[in-house]
Amino acid sequence: MQRVLWITGAGSGMGRAVARVAAAAGWTVALSGRRADALRDTASEVTAAGGTALELPLDVRDGDAVRAARARIVEEFGRIDALVLAAGRNTPQRAWGDQRIETFHDVVAVNLGAVVTVVDAALPDLRTSSGVVVVVSSYAGWSFHPSAGVAYSASKTALGSVARTLNAQEAAHGVRATHLCPGDVATDFLSQRPTVPDAAARELMLTPDDIARTVQFVLDSPAHVRIDELVVSPVSQR
Ligand SMILES: NC(=O)c1ccc[n+]([C@@H]2O[C@H](COP(=O)([O-])OP(=O)(O)OC[C@H]3O[C@@H](n4cnc5c(N)ncnc54)[C@H](OP(=O)(O)O)[C@@H]3O)[C@@H](O)[C@H]2O)c1
Repeated sequence: MQRVLWITGAGSGMGRAVARVAAAAGWTVALSGRRADALRDTASEVTAAGGTALELPLDVRDGDAVRAARARIVEEFGRIDALVLAAGRNTPQRAWGDQRIETFHDVVAVNLGAVVTVVDAALPDLRTSSGVVVVVSSYAGWSFHPSAGVAYSASKTALGSVARTLNAQEAAHGVRATHLCPGDVATDFLSQRPTVPDAAARELMLTPDDIARTVQFVLDSPAHVRIDELVVSPVSQR
């Protein structure tokens, strides 16, 4: 049976690794993010390995675009079995004393609002397929992390509630959500830190493939198994 996974943030980092690993495990992948060229590269990796990928460039803050993408996936494949919601952002201006309020609202819109928008759009399909939602949150969404920033901490912490309300209210339809909380992962995301980690620091971090392997475990778990929360961190995490 064909199983269809829609990934946001699929053009880089964890999203791209999830696409590669899921496709190798037999999943058909739909790829979203703003950069069409980055999605094309992810799709090329998937198809070169014999998988099937559909590129759907969009800005996750655009609700109409999200709903149109959902319709396109259903038109193309007839179903959606899982979401991996990896699109996210931060900002180097993280403190009450230096943040811009417009940036605060945008971080919340991408990290929290858009996650809800995508789940809302795909929920009818997930109900039909007893689907899985993997919400890529953060270590800072699991345990308070002073350097993560006002907007990032607040938005990622709220994702725990998003997953829990889904699990509480949608269990009757077999829908299962995982609040996935990675520690430091060596991706482009680190360039948004006030002090960008050097190569030696990145050597100690998780790789996107470490997270993809974890996500694959969730995706391939039997339909009666729900994995509510996972915290995955490098041994060096503080
Ligand atoms: N790296 C870490 O240490 C770490 C740790 C814990 C959690 N996380 C979380 O993990 C997730 C994936 O991050 P990553 O580390 O893999 O970094 P990444 O490579 O920078 O991935 C972030 C992705 O989000 C997409 N994105 C950002 N804004 C978007 C928008 N408005 N619309 C659509 N897509 C958007 C980006 O694609 P476009 O620019 O093409 O849109 C990009 O592919 C993020 O949610 C991040 O908060 C990261």
